[in-house]
Formats: sequence, structure tokens, C-alpha cells
Amino acid sequence: MNTFWEERFCEEGRIWGDTPSRTVDYAIGLFNNAGVQRVLVPGSGYGRNAAAFARAGFSVTGIENSATAVTLALQNSEGVRYHLGSVLEMPFDDSMYDGIYCFNVLHLFRKNDRAAFLARCREQLKEGGVMFFIVFSDREPSYGMGKKVEENTFESKPGREVHYYSAEDLVSEFRDFEVLETGIMEDPEDHGGEGRHIHQLRYIYARN
Ligand SMILES: C[S@@+](CC[C@H](N)C(=O)[O-])C[C@H]1O[C@@H](n2cnc3c(N)ncnc32)[C@H](O)[C@@H]1O
Repeated sequence: MNTFWEERFCEEGRIWGDTPSRTVDYAIGLFNNAGVQRVLVPGSGYGRNAAAFARAGFSVTGIENSATAVTLALQNSEGVRYHLGSVLEMPFDDSMYDGIYCFNVLHLFRKNDRAAFLARCREQLKEGGVMFFIVFSDREPSYGMGKKVEENTFESKPGREVHYYSAEDLVSEFRDFEVLETGIMEDPEDHGGEGRHIHQLRYIYARN
């Protein structure tokens, strides 16, 4: 198993602080308009984004395969239920969801696993359910850095591969869904040795 994230959570704890990504507010607005109640958060880390959905009144389940991240999340779970395991092995229970929010996880996989991950998400999403996914874009400053392992996919940090999405590529990834909206969102972060930096993220909002 790849230990990149487990080691990072062990060494850096709550890497991105407790403030949720600014994409959460936007997704909450969309989910409220769509009548979402039950939300799945695959790759939930230590729960900063999952907790924000719970505070907004959603019933939330997180899936995460770093044991340290789940332990951190459970220190203040805010009612979020967590399963320890890989998103490639979902489902972990027989729940169905009206909404899936996934931040900076899909781009960590190679092509076949990205498709397998989305297929597993679909199996747990009710018909008419919605998904809001955020991924690294091809406008990220790290695009093209590190060893190329697949098309537009680079080992930008040792042990962490990233697929950098163009707009067309992201829409094509969700071809089995009805794509409702896509766009770019800047997401500022300030952590570790990197200091303040601004991610150029792509999001996609799609319906099952
Ligand atoms: C960039 S972090 C984002 C964490 C969280 N979404 C957030 O914004 O705080 C990527 C997360 O995906 C998790 N992850 C990576 N591969 C996974 C897998 N196969 N199954 C479950 N979680 C995974 C990592 O452990 C890490 O928590």
C-alpha cells in the first residue's frame, strides 16, 4: 500500500488546518438546491470538509484509508461516521447517498483506478443523486514536474502521483453522468514547507 498520506498525517497532523476548503460552501449551496440529505465524502482525510457538511445539517459518512487521519477525525467527529479503508473497495455498508463530495482525491489515481473509483461512487449514489468533485487542473504550478507515469500524470512529489485535468478530460471522465456544471476555482493554502500558495482546481458537478 502507498504510505505517502499516512506518513504525512503522522508527521504533519492536521495539514491544512481546520478551515474547510472554499469549495465546500459552494457545494453546500448546490446540494441544498438539489434536496440532498445524505452525503458521502470519499478520501475524507482528518475530516475538515466532512465536518463542515455535518455542521450544515447533512448526514455525512467519510471513507479514508489513512488510520492516522481517521483517528484525528474522530477526535472531533461532529457526528460524521467514518470507515477506514480504500475508496477502491467501497462500499463499506449498504447505505445509499443523495450527494457525494470529493476533494483532491480522484486525481491521485491512474486511469483504470479513476474509472473504478467513479463506478463505485455511482453504485452508492441514488438515481438523480449529485456529485461534486474537485481535482488538480492542468493550470497547477506543479503541472509537468516529476516523472511522467501516464498521460498528464506525474509523480510530482516522491510517492504521490497526480493526474492534471484539462476541462475536456474532466468532462470525459464523467461521461456516464449528466454533467451540470464545471469550472476553475482558486483555493489558497498555507502549510508546511510550502508556505502560502494558491491551487488552481477544477470542479465538476454531475447527476446520476
Ligand atoms: C489531498 S488529501 C485530501 C483530504 C481531504 N479530502 C481534505 O480535503 O482535507 C487526499 C486524501 O485521500 C486519501 N486517500 C488516498 N488514496 C485513498 C484511497 N485509495 N482510499 C481512501 N482514501 C484515500 C488520503 O489518505 C488523503 O486523506
